[in-house]
Amino acid sequence: MKMKILTLFMLCAIASAHKITQLKVPLYADPRRAAELSCHFQMDDQKLHSVKWYRDMHEIFRYNPSQKPPIRLFNVTGIMVQGGECQVDSCMVRVMPPPVATRAAYSCEISTEGPKFQIARQTKHMTVVAMPDKDPTIIGAPKLVKPGEQILLNCTSDYSLPPSDINWYIDNDIQKPEPWHRTELSAPQPGGLRASWRVLRVSVPPAESGALRVRCEAILMVEPPVVRDTSAIITLYSRTQLSKYVSNRGNNMENSVNVLACVVLWTLKELSKVSL
Ligand SMILES: *[C@@H]1O[C@H](CO)[C@@H](O)[C@H](O)[C@H]1NC(C)=O
Ligand SMILES: *[C@@H]1O[C@H](CO)[C@@H](O)[C@H](O)[C@H]1NC(C)=O
Repeated sequence: MKMKILTLFMLCAIASAHKITQLKVPLYADPRRAAELSCHFQMDDQKLHSVKWYRDMHEIFRYNPSQKPPIRLFNVTGIMVQGGECQVDSCMVRVMPPPVATRAAYSCEISTEGPKFQIARQTKHMTVVAMPDKDPTIIGAPKLVKPGEQILLNCTSDYSLPPSDINWYIDNDIQKPEPWHRTELSAPQPGGLRASWRVLRVSVPPAESGALRVRCEAILMVEPPVVRDTSAIITLYSRTQLSKYVSNRGNNMENSVNVLACVVLWTLKELSKVSL
């Protein structure tokens, strides 16, 4: 029994004599550029048989130093393996991620020579994401509106993958989308990036004054979410402007009264001339 445990212990010690020391897989990959993944290993006194890269369950790369050519690439659905190189203690592979927002597991597996073919394996995940470069833009926001007026605003996000969701706020209150005013998507750009837009109809209440602050938020649903926003201030025709208009009318009336008074005075003067 003791002997068995000891043998097992020794086997484990041998198995851990070759290992992956570092696996470099970017957390996020831009769908417009190839991503570089590298696997660093340590063989100690073991002999390397092969290094393999997998995307999920599919082999995408194999390095076999005793074969000609030593490196073989495998295209699997959705990704293009652009190339790879190996040094004595590392292998690098370049992959073009698919133009869809996906998360995939990339594994590196190193194997010792036969007859044991012991393997060491490590896995990391990479998510395909293209962040927006700019804040969203609001079209159709007038500087000034009249109470009771209706306006139609349009907010467009920058191109991203996945596309952004759009939320509208008026004075910090989120505006529920009407069924016919949901977030719409543009046609895809290279890399699968899309812009999104959503319109908001604003009915200005008839007895309102002051200003409305409208804000549009473009959210990229990744972990953690990426938020960009833009706001616009819309001023409502105020009471003071309205009362100014009314008091102008008042002044005009006063002037007419004055004119009338002059006419009366003149008439009286003329009449008095005649009677003299
Ligand atoms: C993978 O596919 C792309 C095009 O789909 C091609 O250009 C490339 O040579 C292929 N690579 C391999 C290793 O077959
Ligand atoms: C909103 O703006 C986008 C472009 O920024 C445009 O494609 C879309 O047609 C606009 N929608 C409306 C309803 O005006």
